[in-house]
Amino acid sequence: SEEVYGIICAEQGEIDNLSKDIKDTTETEIASRVFKQGTLYGRRVVLVLCRPGKVAAAATTTLLIHHFKVNKLLFVGVAGSTHPDVHIGDIVVGTECSQHDMDARPWRERYILPELGVGFFESTLAEPFAKAVSAFLADGFQTEFAESDLSMFDVTIPAIHKGLIVSGDQFIASKEVKAGIVDGYAEAHKKTPLACEMEGAAVAQVAYEMGCPALVVRVISDEANDKSLDDFGAFLTKCSGPVIGAIVREYFMS
Ligand code: ADE
Repeated sequence: SEEVYGIICAEQGEIDNLSKDIKDTTETEIASRVFKQGTLYGRRVVLVLCRPGKVAAAATTTLLIHHFKVNKLLFVGVAGSTHPDVHIGDIVVGTECSQHDMDARPWRERYILPELGVGFFESTLAEPFAKAVSAFLADGFQTEFAESDLSMFDVTIPAIHKGLIVSGDQFIASKEVKAGIVDGYAEAHKKTPLACEMEGAAVAQVAYEMGCPALVVRVISDEANDKSLDDFGAFLTKCSGPVIGAIVREYFMS
């Protein structure tokens, strides 16, 4: 059957350009969310703003798959960096996602979902997305964003990183809390998270349970430290919409 992409954002600033560019839309409200079925950059999509948090993301994902029959999922938004080489403006493509607040010790191993037995949800869509966006960053990005607010954050050409994205119902705004998350993954699984946010692994879990390929992509808005509230706010209002619009467009049109 034909490909239909579910596209989820958590915040208005993230979805702005996508909702401006979607064409021929039919809107349906379910569970206090507006689902927009239409065409985006030549693809059939269902676009929805889920609001922050894992429960909101999980409920939205379930509806996209079960009610709207999407057969691929893309979550796009901003995240805090959890790695010294990942800077504000950079793009993180989630090769795997994990819930950093899932902790059933001593009953079960840290981060692993009891009974499901999985703690890291991998994506088969990470490679094609990273390829399309790398090509755009090498050729086109600088021209498109030359006059943009990204210069506020000293971004010229963002780097693209592939790796682990971690999610929890927690806004990370101190280097100590960030270090706790990073150390936890190093100790329990010898893994290094690149970014922290509040939805991706919930989408990835529901998609896994329902057999739907899913990808989480994040643009870094802050460094999950004592400056993160200001950086996040400024990035979300001024930068996230245009960057997210451009990378989804490049992926869909590649
Ligand atoms: N999304 C963007 N920045 C974040 C942070 N510091 N913590 C959690 N979610 C985020």
